[in-house]
Amino acid sequence: MPRHVAIVMDGNGRWASRRGLSRHEGHRRGKDSVRAVVDAARELGIPYLTLYAFSSENWGRPTTEVSFLMGLFHRYLITETKRLMKRDIRVLALGDTERLPPRVREALAETVAATRDNRGMTVALALSY
Ligand code: FPP
Repeated sequence: MPRHVAIVMDGNGRWASRRGLSRHEGHRRGKDSVRAVVDAARELGIPYLTLYAFSSENWGRPTTEVSFLMGLFHRYLITETKRLMKRDIRVLALGDTERLPPRVREALAETVAATRDNRGMTVALALSY
């Protein structure tokens, strides 16, 4: 079993357009996949999972798409922290998180602080990397 798995979260747009769905819907489903992947990695006993979710180049996408993604990150952090606690999962933030909108930065800081003593698995979220 690997000790560290890293995933570049690419292809949401292509996945959606192949199914006649919007790019936004692709990102929304990508967020559901994050939950499934985190749960699976935890069950498999993989100690470290790194998710490359938003690159620095991604800031150049249309404003509506960037805002939509920021909304998804925010909602993920707000809704998933309880699940992460229950599974003893620690969250770390990677990337230039200073560039994130204040509400995302704050939610990220809260999740990182709340989960800091968890030892079951570490999930590193790369945002603005
Ligand atoms: C790249 O696919 C994906 C992104 C820029 C965003 C990934 C983020 C999420 C799925 C939101 C949830 C994430 C977390 C960590 C809660 P793309 O748009 O480049 O797809 P394409 O290459 O097919 O165009």
